[in-house]
Amino acid sequence: MCGIVGYIGHRNAVPILVKGLEHLEYRGYDSAGIACLNLEKENLFIKKEKGKLSELKRELEKHPAYAQIGIGHTRWATHGEPSKLNAHPHVDDKSKIILVHNGIIENHSDLKRELQAKGHRFFSGTDTEVAVNLIASYYKKNNFVEAFRKAISRLQGFYAFVALDKSDPDTLYVFKRSNPLVIGLGKGENFVASDTPALLPFTSDVVFLEDDEYAVLTKDKVKIFSLATGRMIKRHSTRIKWNMAQAQKGGYPHFMLKEIYEQPTVLQEAFNRITNKEDVIRFENMTPRIENRLRKIRKVFMVSCGTAYHAGLTGCLWMEQNAGIPSEARVSSEFRYQKPIVTKNDLVILITQSGETADTLAALREAKTHGAMTLAVVNVLGSTIAREADYTIYTHAGPEIGVASTKAYTAQLVTLVFLSLYMARIKKTLSSRQIAGYLDSIRKLPKACSKALKQSTAIINCAKHQYRRHSFLYIGRGVNFPVALEGALKLKEISYAHAHGYAAGEMKHGPIALIDKNQPVICIAPHSKTRDKMLSNVEEIRARKGIVIAIGTENDKELKKISSYFIPVPKVDESLSAIIAVIPLQLFAYHVAVLNRRDVDQPRNLAKSVTVE
Ligand code: M6R
Repeated sequence: MCGIVGYIGHRNAVPILVKGLEHLEYRGYDSAGIACLNLEKENLFIKKEKGKLSELKRELEKHPAYAQIGIGHTRWATHGEPSKLNAHPHVDDKSKIILVHNGIIENHSDLKRELQAKGHRFFSGTDTEVAVNLIASYYKKNNFVEAFRKAISRLQGFYAFVALDKSDPDTLYVFKRSNPLVIGLGKGENFVASDTPALLPFTSDVVFLEDDEYAVLTKDKVKIFSLATGRMIKRHSTRIKWNMAQAQKGGYPHFMLKEIYEQPTVLQEAFNRITNKEDVIRFENMTPRIENRLRKIRKVFMVSCGTAYHAGLTGCLWMEQNAGIPSEARVSSEFRYQKPIVTKNDLVILITQSGETADTLAALREAKTHGAMTLAVVNVLGSTIAREADYTIYTHAGPEIGVASTKAYTAQLVTLVFLSLYMARIKKTLSSRQIAGYLDSIRKLPKACSKALKQSTAIINCAKHQYRRHSFLYIGRGVNFPVALEGALKLKEISYAHAHGYAAGEMKHGPIALIDKNQPVICIAPHSKTRDKMLSNVEEIRARKGIVIAIGTENDKELKKISSYFIPVPKVDESLSAIIAVIPLQLFAYHVAVLNRRDVDQPRNLAKSVTVE
C-alpha cells in the first residue's frame, strides 16, 4: 500500500514523478504529493493534495515547478486520516530532510514521545513524520547516510523509504525492509519506485533492492549497501519484458475491462509456455533437485489472500484429485498466527499476484521456519515473495492495474491446474494418456473464454435490471464453490453492494431465510455431476420468489427455463469449468459497478497491493 517514486537526472523531475505516480495509484489514492529540490534556487518545493492524483496534477498545473531531483507519494492511509496534512512527503521540523514512506513504523508512539522530549514538534498524525524527525535527530556534519542507518536500526516494522537531504541536492537515498522498491537505471538519470510499471515509461533496466539494503543514487551511479555491514553490494540489473502498452488502457474505459478481455490470451500463453509438443508440462527453472523434493511431498498447503485464496481453494481440489496429495487452502493472515502443523515433508504454495502481500510474505517465512518446501505462484517479476520462495512459478499475466483481480486469477488457476498435473506425473497418480487427455481439455480453454466474453449483452441487460439491489447471494458446488466466493468478492469490492458466496448445499442451513422477491441469487450451475443438485437449489429459490441469475452450459434449456436470467457459458471439462464460469461474474460485477458510477479501477478504501498487516 502507498506508492513511492524518486528521480534524479538531467530532466525535469516533476512530470517524471507524476507519470510514475499515475502507474502507482493502484497502491493507494487518498492523497498524493511530491517534493523537489531546485538546484539553482536551492529551495525545496513541496506540493500535496488530499484525494486522487488528479487533484495534485491540477495544483501542479497552477504552480509549475522545475527541478532535477525529487520524490513522490500516493497514499493509502494507515496512521492518520486521509488529509493534506497527513499526505507525504513529510519533512522534519527544521525542514532539512524530506521523506516518502510505504509501510508501518510499529514503534512510532514510543519514538515520538522520545523525540518530543528532545524538543521535536509534530504536525501530522503519521508515523512517517516520526521517522523523518528521527533521521534528523541523528544528522550531524552532513553525514546523511550515518543518520539514515542509525534511524533505521531503531525503526521497527516493515517499510520502504525514499529520502532527500536538503543540503545535498545531488543524491537520493532509499531503503527497503519487506516493502518493495525497484531502482530504474537510465543514462545520466536514475529512478526508484515501488513497482516496475512506474519505471517502464523511462527504462526497462531495473535493479531489485533486497530487504535491509539501502542505496545511494546520483544521476550517474547507483550504489547498494547492506544495512548490517555497511558494505557495498554488487547487483546485476534485470531487463523487464513488460511493455508500456500492457500498462495502458488500450482504448478500454477501465483497466479492469481490458484485463477481463485479456484472459483468452493469458490462458493461451500459459498453455504455450508450459506444455511442449510431446504434451510434457515444464516449468521455467525447474531442476532435478527441486523435482526430487516435490516428489517426496506428502501434504500441500495453498496460502494466500482475497482472490488468490479463491484460486488456492480450487487449486487444492485439483491437487487432491489429480496428484492424490492431501491439500488445504488457508488464508495467509490466519495461517501465519495459527501455529500450523507443517513439516519438512510438506509443500507450502504461496499464491499472489503482487508477490508483496504482507500476510502472504509472513506465511512464507513461517512455513520456512518449519522446514517446509515453499513454492510461489506469482505474477510480478522480482517481487519479494518470488525471490524468497524456494521455487517460483510466474503466472506471466502481464501488469494487472485494476484493483479487482481478474486475469491474474485465471492465470493462477491455469498455473495451479498445470502444477497438479505435473505433480500427478511425478507421483505417478495419472498415466501419460490421462494427462494428455486433460491437456486437450485445457487447450480448449482460450477459445471457450473468448466465447464466454461474447455474452456481455445478456450480462449488461441483467445488470441494468439488478444494479440498484443492495444484497446478492452467489452459490456453487465443487470447483464452482470457490467461483461463488470470487464472484461475490468481485461485486462487493467494486460496486459496494453486499455480496456473499456460499456452497449451494449450505442454503438450507441458513441463507435460504434471506430469499424473497427482492433477493438476487447468482447460481453457478454449468454441466457437472452436481448440476442436478444445483437445479434443485434453483427450484427452491424460485419457490420463494427469489431472482435467479443462472450461469449454465449453453444448451441447458431446463436451467434456462427456470431462471430469471440465463447467462450461457461454453461446455468445458467439469473440473476446468471454474476457469470459464468466473468470466460472466467478472463482467457482471464490472457492469453493476459502472451503472452505479463507482470508481471501478480504484474502489474506495482498497489498494491493489496490501503490504501492511
Ligand atoms: O497480490 P495478491 O494476489 O497477494 O493480493 C491478494 C488480495 O489482496 C487480492 O486478491 C484482492 O483480494 C483483490 N483486490 C481481489 O480482487
